[in-house]
Amino acid sequence: MLQGKEILLGVTGGIAAYKSVLLLRELTKYGANVNVIMTKSATEFVGSLTFQTLSGNPVTTDIFTLFASSEIGHVSLASRADLLVIAPATANIIGKIANGIADDFLTTMVMATRVPVLFAPAMNTNMWASRVVQRNISDLKEMDYNFMEPAEGELACGVVGRGKLADIDAIMDEIKALLSPNDLQGEKILISAGPTEEAIDPARCLTNRSSGKMGYNLAAVARRRGAEVILVAGPCAELENWGIKVINCKTALEMADAIDQNLDGVTSVIMAAAVADFRPAEQAAEKIKRDGNYCLELEPNPDILAGLGKRPDKPFLVGFAAETNKLFDHAQGKIKRKNLDMIVANDVTAPGAGFSVDTNIICIIDRDGQMTDFPLMSKENVAGVILDHMLKLKKKRRLLA
Ligand code: C5P
Repeated sequence: MLQGKEILLGVTGGIAAYKSVLLLRELTKYGANVNVIMTKSATEFVGSLTFQTLSGNPVTTDIFTLFASSEIGHVSLASRADLLVIAPATANIIGKIANGIADDFLTTMVMATRVPVLFAPAMNTNMWASRVVQRNISDLKEMDYNFMEPAEGELACGVVGRGKLADIDAIMDEIKALLSPNDLQGEKILISAGPTEEAIDPARCLTNRSSGKMGYNLAAVARRRGAEVILVAGPCAELENWGIKVINCKTALEMADAIDQNLDGVTSVIMAAAVADFRPAEQAAEKIKRDGNYCLELEPNPDILAGLGKRPDKPFLVGFAAETNKLFDHAQGKIKRKNLDMIVANDVTAPGAGFSVDTNIICIIDRDGQMTDFPLMSKENVAGVILDHMLKLKKKRRLLA
C-alpha cells in the first residue's frame, strides 16, 4: 500500500522528534519515498543528516534555499505528495496552522498542499489539555485535518499523563488508512481470529498453532478501507497491542456465543479462526495426576460457520480451509456443506504458508467452483486480496447497497 507513495514528513521541535526517525524507517521499509521537512527548533533535537541519510532525500529546513532552485520547492513537493504527516506536532505548529501563519517551510507547505494532512501531537500534559490547544485542534478538525490522539504515560518532563507521541504502529496504521480507498464503507464485517482453547483440567488445554495474524490483518485492512469491524478472537497474546478493539473469548462455545450476540447489522462474516472441532467431554476440577494410561473423551463443538450458513438472514460468508492434502476438493466440499459464498484455502504444510508465519499462499474458491491462485504474500496483502475478492463477488451478485 505504501509502495511508490510520496510522503512528506514534517518534524517539529519536541523531544519526541527522535521517534520520527523510527517513523521514517517504517515508511521507507514499506516502499514509500519520504521527503522530510524540519522546523528550525526540530534541528536542535535531531540532526537533519540523520533524516537525510535514512530518507535518501535532501532535508528541507529553510524556506529561502528552495527559491534558489529552478522549481518553486514547496509547490512542487506539495503537488507530488500523497500525504503530509507532522510527527511530532508541537502546540506551536498546531497553533500557527490553525491561525493561518505560514512563516517557515513546513507551515507554508501545509497551506500549499491539497493532500490529506495528519498531525501526531506530542507535548506536556497541561499543554495538551489547555483550552487554546484543544480549540485549535477542534478548528483544524473542522477543516478536515486529521489528528492522532497522543498516548498516556510518563512524559520527558517526568509528569504522568496524556501527551506522548502516539505509537509508531498506530501512526502507520492511520497513514495507511488515509491512503486506502474507502471502498468498504457501509460494510459491517465480523471477523474471527486465532485459536480456541478447550480446558482439560485447570492446568492443561487443547488448542492449535493458529497465531491470529490472518484475522487481525483482515480486521486492520477492512477498518482502513472504511468498514465497521467487529473482531472476535481466541487467545492471541502476541497481538494484544494492535490497537484493534477485540471481543475476547477462549472456547469454541464462547466464540459461537460472542458471534451470535454481535450479528446485528452484520453484512459479512469472515471466519479466520481455527476453531477446535472437539472439546473434552468433561473438565477435571483438579489437575489430572499421572497414574497409568489416561483416556481423554472428546465431544464435538458446534460448527459456527455451518450454523451461520443455515440462517435465513445469512450474511455473506467467507470460510477458511487449512489443508494438508487435496486442497481444492476439500475446500469445495466445505463451500457446499457450510453454504459459504467463498473460501480461502491454503496448504499449511507449504513453506511460508499457514500458522504463525507472517506470510501466506492462498487460493480463493467461490461457490461456482472458480479458483484463483495467489503467490506468496504478506498476511497484510493477503487480507487485501481477500477483501477485494469479496467486494468483487458482492458487486457481481448485487449484494451491495
Ligand atoms: O471444517 P473445517 O474446520 O476445516 O472448516 C474451517 C472453517 O470453518 C474455518 O473458516 C473455521 O473458522 C470454521 N469453523 C467453525 N466452527 C468449527 C470449526 C471450524 O466455524 N467448529
